[in-house]
Amino acid sequence: RRAALERAAALFRAVPDFPAPGVVFQDVTPVLADPAALRAVVEEMIAPYAGRFDAVAGLDARGFLLAGFAAALTDTGVLPLRKAGKLPVTAGHVAYELEYGSAALEASPELAVPGLRVLVLDDVLATGGTLAAAHELIAACGAEVAGSAVVLEVAGLDGRDRVPEALALFAA
Ligand code: PRP
Repeated sequence: RRAALERAAALFRAVPDFPAPGVVFQDVTPVLADPAALRAVVEEMIAPYAGRFDAVAGLDARGFLLAGFAAALTDTGVLPLRKAGKLPVTAGHVAYELEYGSAALEASPELAVPGLRVLVLDDVLATGGTLAAAHELIAACGAEVAGSAVVLEVAGLDGRDRVPEALALFAA
C-alpha cells in the first residue's frame, strides 16, 4: 500500500484561481482515476476506524466517490451529505461558510437513526467549514460521528482547529 500511496501523492493537482480568483483548488480527481492509488487511499482512510462504523457519509461531491468505495470495502451503506436543494426528502439542514462563499448541507432521513455510527469521508480539508457542518448535521439527526478522514489537508487555513480529530492522509 505504501507504494500506491506515494503514487497518489504525486497525482494531486493544484489549480490556481478556481473556483474564484485567489483560491488554489486542490484537485484529487487524478487519484480517483488511478485504481491502485484509489484503493490505497480509501483503505488508509478507513483503517483507523475498522469495525467501529455502521455507515459511510460522503460529502458533496467528491466525498461521494470515496464513501461509495469505502462502503463496498466494509459491507456498510452510503449516506450522501448533499449541498442544499438536491435531496427530495431531508432530515436536517446546516449552513456553513466556504473559502469562497457560503453553502448548506442536507441529509436524507436514512441518517436519522439514533446511535448510528457514521464515518465521514471527503477529499479536501481547507477551512474545515464543510466537515464541521457535516459533524453538526450528523449530531442534529441523532446519529454519531465515528470518525472523519480526508485525502488532503490544505495547510494555512486553520481547518484543523475546527475538526482536530479528523485524519488527513496528505498535506498541501
Ligand atoms: C470542497 C472540498 C470539500 C470542501 C473543503 O468542496 O471538496 O468538500 O471544499 O473546504 P472547507 O474545508 O473550506 O469547507 P466544494 O464545496 O468546492 O464542492 P465540490 O466538492 O462539489 O466541488
